[in-house]
Amino acid sequence: MKFWLAFAALLFAVPAAAQVAQDNIINAGVAEATSPDGQIKLQLVLNGEGRIGYQVTRGPQPVITESHLGFLFADAPQMLRNFTFVAATRASKDETWQQPWGEWKTVRDHYNELAATFQEKDKLRRIVRIRVRLFDDAVAFRYELPAQPNLKTANITEELTQFQIAEPGDAWWSPAFESNREEQLYNHTPIDGIGQAQTPLTMVTRSGLHLAIHEAALVDYAGMNIGRVQGRQLKAMLTPSSSGPAVVRDTPFETPWRVILITPDAPSLYAANAEFLNLNEPNKLGDVSWVKPRKYVGIWWGMHLDQQTWATGPKHGATTAYAKKMIDFAAANGFTGLLVEGWNKGWDGDWFATGWDFRFAENTPDFDIAAVSKYGLSKGVHLIGHHETSANIANYEAQLGAGLDFAKRYGEDTVKTGYVADAGGVQARLPDGRISFEWHEGQIMSRHHLKVVTEAAKRHIAIDSHEPIKDTGLRRTYPNWVSREGQRGMEYNAWGVPKNPPSYDTAMIFTRMLGGPFDFTPGILSLKGKGDTPIPSTLARQLAYYVVIASPVQMAADLPENYEANRAAFQFIKDVAVDWDDTKMIAGKVGEYGVFARKERGKPTWFMGGIADEQEHRLSLALSFLDKGARYRAEIYRDGDTANFRTNPRSIVIEQRTVTAADTMPIRLAPGGGFAVRFVRLGR
Ligand code: NOJ
Ligand code: CA
Repeated sequence: MKFWLAFAALLFAVPAAAQVAQDNIINAGVAEATSPDGQIKLQLVLNGEGRIGYQVTRGPQPVITESHLGFLFADAPQMLRNFTFVAATRASKDETWQQPWGEWKTVRDHYNELAATFQEKDKLRRIVRIRVRLFDDAVAFRYELPAQPNLKTANITEELTQFQIAEPGDAWWSPAFESNREEQLYNHTPIDGIGQAQTPLTMVTRSGLHLAIHEAALVDYAGMNIGRVQGRQLKAMLTPSSSGPAVVRDTPFETPWRVILITPDAPSLYAANAEFLNLNEPNKLGDVSWVKPRKYVGIWWGMHLDQQTWATGPKHGATTAYAKKMIDFAAANGFTGLLVEGWNKGWDGDWFATGWDFRFAENTPDFDIAAVSKYGLSKGVHLIGHHETSANIANYEAQLGAGLDFAKRYGEDTVKTGYVADAGGVQARLPDGRISFEWHEGQIMSRHHLKVVTEAAKRHIAIDSHEPIKDTGLRRTYPNWVSREGQRGMEYNAWGVPKNPPSYDTAMIFTRMLGGPFDFTPGILSLKGKGDTPIPSTLARQLAYYVVIASPVQMAADLPENYEANRAAFQFIKDVAVDWDDTKMIAGKVGEYGVFARKERGKPTWFMGGIADEQEHRLSLALSFLDKGARYRAEIYRDGDTANFRTNPRSIVIEQRTVTAADTMPIRLAPGGGFAVRFVRLGR
């Protein structure tokens, strides 16, 4: 009987246009909540088919119109319609907490929460709870699947989460599921031109609302991508697994938070990235004073230029003698870390191909790690470990403990991990012993990364992952997960074709950077890649990156001889901080330019930096972020008046001025340019 009722309901619902109208009429708003400032409102609804949905407004303006929620399972009927509302609870929070390192010392966590429970009316009577949090600049929701007789294990093939964007507008997005993993150029299209996108996915609507869709607390689940269904209707697309459903979890469990940042302008969109931290659990590691923000140099760029090799042989970069030379350079210039790549067994031959040869506790014969590490520590320079896995996590996990113990033994307090392989090329060991090929952002990798991070934490080692899973704020819970890559870094400017165009960077700071720290490896003062090919950047822009791109580990990536040849500009790289009390984006336009001011952690010193796309931008920047009444020496590194990344990239003006918070600073950002300033507080 019930089957026939359901069937009849389906029949009635068939004509698409009619269905929309009908849904609107019989929709029942079951519960709603507003942000603390009352501006943003989220309403949970049940439509005539018993589908759970939500809609979001900001002030009078619709942001997300009715969008549905649900799941497809591999071994059970979909969880989609025929729900009834059971009950709702509410909560609120207004707390501040401190980050051990990061863009802000103090973060405010201020939200109203609503948790609504729904149950299927018949048959399986499965239960789902939708927990919603509203901040002044974001909405977030997650699914909670309680323990229940008819859903012991959820074998999720699809998460049916929709985002129906109310207004037309522009979108900046990086394509998902492409061969080069998360490292793509950005597309800038109308919202209804989005294809399959990674998150963060950023949009500016016709009326000027700035939106970004991303997720928080990606734990033991598949990473979410966004696909466009039709028009401005977007939906979650879970990263698949080749070894079964995208996600396999026993109940009870909860999904990551699905988050939509909603702000009036570009600077407030950037600031809203703190909500990803708020949506993660507090620090589980206790005292993390052993996590040391720092700048580092490396035996690295030379390999990307093809001047040195990772493999042993006549051009091997990681030799005892060269490492000692690099330690001298680091110590002489105040850097406390030296990354050495190609130090271990496994690089000879086609390392990219399988990764089976990598050994994480075995150095090459020409690299005396004991001697190098001892020499470094005597000069205050720690080795930064390098664990390139070629995404063979089966091989890596089998050696993980031994590899990290080895790192610890040689004073490595940070290890850079690497997962180079084409998309879908992660090799994982299944419980039955077979090897499966997986995506970099699948459930298996969400587990793997936390395994590495927690094993490293036991040994007081920080992790900087390259070709990683995306950042969803887990650094709050595991503050030793200090940085990662996850987009195109500077290395693309070594290799070329295409290099990162200036507008890649200005899209990246409003998309990828919302997720968290990026080990971008800036500071190529030669402005030259492999074979002396030009890097699309002015000289001042290379300095600006240190302020614009936050990361508690920042590399001075160029070769020492290029720093020696550019001493005046290099001074800024030596002076710049990497850990902050406060961060403000003080001017910005998505895709066009962005200017940040950041105050050094525990010091009165401020830094400011900005970068441009391919166009010139003239800005007048208020210095009101400085302490009122104080005088500062502004050490300015700006594009020369005729600087241009195409025609005159090396033109730079380095000058000093005395300024106060009452001043404004006129700045010309050259095409492909940038600027950087250190504000040193002066006595009276
Ligand atoms: C890619 C990383 O991003 C790069 O920094 C590293 O040098 C190579 N993989 C080799 O591990
Ligand atoms: Ca990379």
